[in-house]
Amino acid sequence: MANILIFDSGMGGLSVYREVHRTLPAHQYFYLFDNACFPYGELGETRLVERVLELLTTFVPRHGIDIVIIACNTASTHVLPALRQCLSVPVVGVVPAIKPAAVYCRAHGLDHIGLLATPGTVSRNYTAELVQSFAADMRVSMLGTTELVKMAEDKLAGQPVDMARLSRILAPWRGEDGPSALVLGCTHFPLLAEELARCLPTAQLVDSGEAIARRVASLLLQSIRASGDEPCPAGRLYCTRLTEKAQAQGRAFAQEGFGGLEAFVP
Ligand code: DGL
Repeated sequence: MANILIFDSGMGGLSVYREVHRTLPAHQYFYLFDNACFPYGELGETRLVERVLELLTTFVPRHGIDIVIIACNTASTHVLPALRQCLSVPVVGVVPAIKPAAVYCRAHGLDHIGLLATPGTVSRNYTAELVQSFAADMRVSMLGTTELVKMAEDKLAGQPVDMARLSRILAPWRGEDGPSALVLGCTHFPLLAEELARCLPTAQLVDSGEAIARRVASLLLQSIRASGDEPCPAGRLYCTRLTEKAQAQGRAFAQEGFGGLEAFVP
């Protein structure tokens, strides 16, 4: 059994955990969210690298982690090279699914991709390079929003989603000229997939969850202890600041087989 860490600024990694856990159930999962520095989409790039390194260079050895999943596009599009230099275990990142969206559009004779992500992710050179490499022949429009990230957090804390607010955020894409493929370039957004599909009914939603699960599965087969028949242990859940809201969000994790929320101090 391997110790698998899923890391995000908040609840978004849950969408990645669901995919990875469905493919690889019999492992010990750790989930760490950095709610003390949430939202990452508004952090400067230098601070983001410092913060992720500070947390993970402590957490990984302390818990004997075998594989790290950075379940955050905002961090993955900037932090991965520095992080891989500091850690000796494999690090899997998640980046906006521009390539599969372009494949979908080409196969259906369509040409408009929408990238819904955080302000950080839409401004990254890495994102511009992804578009250039895989969708240079398409129209790619981008919308960077922290409001939607917060709405996903609130939904997991038990609050209803305000559909009128969601429609306002997506207003630039509503109507005939909207995107045919909508890349959910923030791991928080699959948590709002139902609501997004209601607002943009003709767009095909595309995210990176399944691709991450396949990548983790292949790494586990190659280099890390394969799982045996042991029963699945409860997942271990950590935040960087124990707040009431984090406790409420922790209850959503309890339904997915995680134990109680603990604070992680690097
Ligand atoms: N879940 C994150 C992502 O995939 C980050 C959201 C945030 O903290 O701004 O980009």
